[in-house]
Amino acid sequence: MTTSETVTDRRVLRPTVLDLGDVLLRPWGRALDVPGGIVPALLAAAADPDIDRWNPLGTTDRAAAEAYLDRCDTHWADGTAAAFAVTDTADGGLLGNAYLRWSDRADGIAMVGYWLLPAARGRGLATRATAAVTHWAVDTADARRIELYHAVGNDRSCRVATRAGFPYEGTLRASYRYSGRDYQDEHLHARLATDPR
Ligand SMILES: CC(C)(COP(=O)(O)OP(=O)(O)OC[C@H]1O[C@@H](n2cnc3c(N)ncnc32)[C@H](O)[C@@H]1OP(=O)(O)O)[C@@H](O)C(=O)NCCC(=O)NCCS
Repeated sequence: MTTSETVTDRRVLRPTVLDLGDVLLRPWGRALDVPGGIVPALLAAAADPDIDRWNPLGTTDRAAAEAYLDRCDTHWADGTAAAFAVTDTADGGLLGNAYLRWSDRADGIAMVGYWLLPAARGRGLATRATAAVTHWAVDTADARRIELYHAVGNDRSCRVATRAGFPYEGTLRASYRYSGRDYQDEHLHARLATDPR
């Protein structure tokens, strides 16, 4: 770090494509191109009952989906959040989402999230995408501690966390609620940049 460089100069999440071979992680935004169109794909994702239960997207109509894409573009432009679409390398189809944003940028603390469309579940994609996004944030944006929260009862997400290298740290009581829903307890998992990969 040069003397004039600040911590936030280094902690910038820059638009990039992460190539995992069979899948690509591509920045969400207006320019994201998937077969059938990105807005219909987002509407379909929001309508999935498991996504609606555990990670509601709010993209339930065209205007909301476009507003979501605009927010993704804004966050990519200012380096504060990295929302990646998980897409099939072979046909470009949307499979899911992997997301990382700063929760305390000055202190290097970020949080990750993910969802998969039903047809993409059960083959390790969420685990691989979460690990890839986490390592990228450590390597390119100096993330120091990456946290992962999931609702108590979301056992599949708990297994993703453990498999992706985020040990369980504790249970938070009534710590989070989605719009219009009750507060729920969450598990906190986290990994440090210094944890072995
Ligand atoms: C949470 C969610 C992403 C987990 O999906 P998933 O398919 O179980 O997770 P992964 O992609 O990591 O796949 C892991 C599963 O594939 C199996 N698998 C098969 N091949 C694998 C491989 N090569 N590597 C790892 N796992 C593999 C694993 O055994 C595991 O199944 P199990 O947990 O029943 O043992 C998905 O259920 C979802 O989108 N839910 C709704 C939204 C949500 O809950 N988001 C998280 C909010 S905190």
